[in-house]
Amino acid sequence: MSPDTQRTVVRGRFLDIAQTVTDPSLIADQIRLTEDGLLISENGKITWFGNWQDGQSQLTDEDHIEYYPDQLIVPGFIDTHIHFPQTEMVGAYGEQLLEWLNTYTFPTEMQFSDKEYASQIAQFFVQELLKNGTTTALVFCTVHLESVDALFEAAEQHQMRLIAGKVMMDRHAPDALTDTAESAYHDSKALIEKWHGKGRNLYAITPRFAPTSTEEQLTRAGQLKAEYPDVYVHTHLSENHNEIAWVKELFPEQKGYLDVYHHYGLTGERSVFAHCVHLEEHEWDCMHTTDSAIAFCPTSNLFLGSGLFPLKKTWDRQVKVGLGTDIGAGTSFCQLQTLNEAYKVQQLQGDRLSAFESLYHATLGGARALSLDHQLGNFNPGKEADFVVLNLKPTALQQLRQQRTRNIEDALFALFTMGDDRNIQATYIYGNKAYEQSIT
Ligand code: GUN
Ligand code: ZN
Repeated sequence: MSPDTQRTVVRGRFLDIAQTVTDPSLIADQIRLTEDGLLISENGKITWFGNWQDGQSQLTDEDHIEYYPDQLIVPGFIDTHIHFPQTEMVGAYGEQLLEWLNTYTFPTEMQFSDKEYASQIAQFFVQELLKNGTTTALVFCTVHLESVDALFEAAEQHQMRLIAGKVMMDRHAPDALTDTAESAYHDSKALIEKWHGKGRNLYAITPRFAPTSTEEQLTRAGQLKAEYPDVYVHTHLSENHNEIAWVKELFPEQKGYLDVYHHYGLTGERSVFAHCVHLEEHEWDCMHTTDSAIAFCPTSNLFLGSGLFPLKKTWDRQVKVGLGTDIGAGTSFCQLQTLNEAYKVQQLQGDRLSAFESLYHATLGGARALSLDHQLGNFNPGKEADFVVLNLKPTALQQLRQQRTRNIEDALFALFTMGDDRNIQATYIYGNKAYEQSIT
């Protein structure tokens, strides 16, 4: 080992999912609970993972072992849809999507032309992700270049893997928030050259949604994607009935909402569509055949009254899905709270969401939705060492409840129903402890 190797050695109770699956009934077979485990990472990557006893030969006299005897260690949570500039506007009263955008969102986002302001909120945002155990996120910035620089600079301080991009929006928004087809193309291209693949940063071409881009701008977005096939596409799709009707009015020549994006070359393996609450059957087909992914955002869908996302259908139709908080239409940064609401959304449709399936969506399944499951999502050696140390009993009520749980599945379900940021004891990014809850 070279003297400048950054090595982390953690002992504790680990839980992860060994492999991606194509059916939820197969997840239980892939659940890997290591009661007394050892994880070693070097320079951000996992080099050894297994039972503590089996790992003794891996340890050196110089190793400092971080021991969590009473906690549960899981892979870092993955948020597949969130807006960093909306951090300050969570809980804006009374409106559904289109009115909510005009009344609250656009005025808030105007502030991000100011680099200093954007940096201040970006720092807060990254801290909030860490505090909630989220180690990777796919993030909307604003139309301003400065907002993207601010976010990637904040992420770099922790070597955090974020995917983000400048919003493209050249109509149906205030002048202070619009670009043009040309400027969006050139600015996005400059940002791709500057940030995509720099450290752990990745770029997403980010047209806000079809109603706020002209055909010229969508053409330019598609051109960028063709020039840089390994960058992401990140947008919204089929969230609200009025929004869908508006898209049909604006693009009458297309068969439906998703066809607009498909027509301009914006579907594909690295395309993530937030919401998809009201997809039509032919759109499910298109999502599957293009290998596009959905970000399911339950707290947002409930808060804006958008509708109930049919999660079960993602399995039936073999479409990739991850969880999104969608701050600030969503109401919590916390994936535990997001899972709590995800469960209820399924209950209202007569479906179930098991604890193991929930864990899958929050970790390995989310990584797969972002085409990052070869690098993230579980503790397999070679993957990046992003993980969360969970305290299952931070409150009197959770302590009582956890004392009554019968097995790990039951304990996990209680955690997902009752948990919040108080359960996040520590968050490790790329092998480094980036956050630790202060004990008061
Ligand atoms: N559709 C277009 N923009 C937005 C946004 O900022 N939030 C949500 N939830 N949906 C959108
Ligand atoms: Zn959104």
